[in-house]
Amino acid sequence: MKPILVSGIQPSGRLHIGNYLGALKNFVELQNSGKYQCYFFIADLHSLTENYTSEEKRQQILELTADFIAAGLDPKKSVIFLQSQIPAHSELAWILSTATPIGELRRMTQYKDKSDNEKESANAGLLTYPVLMAADIILYDAKFVPVGEDQIQHLELTRTLARKFNAKFNDVFIEPRPILTETPRIMSLKNPEKKMSKSDPQSCVFLDDSPEDIRAKFKSATTDSGSEIKYDPKNKPGISNMLKIFSAVSGESLKESEKMFAGSSYSNFKGAVAESIVAHFADYRKKKQTLLARPRTLVAILNSGSKKAALRANRKIREVKSRVGLTV
Ligand code: ADP
Ligand code: TRP
Repeated sequence: MKPILVSGIQPSGRLHIGNYLGALKNFVELQNSGKYQCYFFIADLHSLTENYTSEEKRQQILELTADFIAAGLDPKKSVIFLQSQIPAHSELAWILSTATPIGELRRMTQYKDKSDNEKESANAGLLTYPVLMAADIILYDAKFVPVGEDQIQHLELTRTLARKFNAKFNDVFIEPRPILTETPRIMSLKNPEKKMSKSDPQSCVFLDDSPEDIRAKFKSATTDSGSEIKYDPKNKPGISNMLKIFSAVSGESLKESEKMFAGSSYSNFKGAVAESIVAHFADYRKKKQTLLARPRTLVAILNSGSKKAALRANRKIREVKSRVGLTV
């Protein structure tokens, strides 16, 4: 049997090139490698920890489904599903939460970042978020989880929880391992010391930005002192970030990319990186529009994927309940 691989993305806004180069692009490559049984899902329950209206949420779910398919995920090769359609995720999250020290959750960087402004009024879901994420993964006996670097801490917690349960209930879960890309942390174009993040839209290049917007964003991207196009993250964080982006999108190695731009001005280099993004996502943009024009097809993809995922998830949650002593 091929090993199982699971990952999810929250439907909480448009995808940016960090999401793509850190996660989605790899989902497609891992799917096409044929080496794994792949499960990719829309983490809608996770996304409820941020502000939303019901109309927005419905649209965000459809958009992310379209993103998945337009980027190359294929329901014939991967199980593509909607988290909230499978109650076992929430059930297992509750059971795991009873074994999770609150102190560990409070230490999570993502929790600290997201709750910082709200303090006591921050919702409890922000704190327990990684427990649900652990459930998403070990419910499927996943061995591998492709994610960006910011999720590593959550994966460590997942491993700890799996180990804890295994010690108490006799090897019920698999300890999952992350799979990172060459670009696990794309930085903001405005401030290359910070990661590109949806929560700061100014910092992002979105996959469905118009070619004009993409060009304008690279034009105004922060560069470094000096004039050489060189990969040197310490002294040239802005240029290095853009070299990484170019290399990931073009498929050229970093060394080769450096060579291609030896002698170029910063402004020519930025223009070329922008063009590589414009070209790379041209097909995706068209496909996404076509897919969004047929929302019923997108819903059918999710319904059918969720049915498949439920088979595995329901089997597992029954086993967990039985081990824990909940089946009388
Ligand atoms: P955001 O952090 O922008 O809110 P999500 O939390 O929805 O995005 O992340 C979806 C996936 O994209 C995760 O696997 C995450 O690790 C990855 N990711 C997010 N930002 C980046 C980035 N700047 N560079 C690389 N990967 C990223
Ligand atoms: N926490 C992830 C993020 O913010 C999304 C996510 C939820 C996820 N459940 C997961 C990723 C399970 C991998 C596996 O990006």
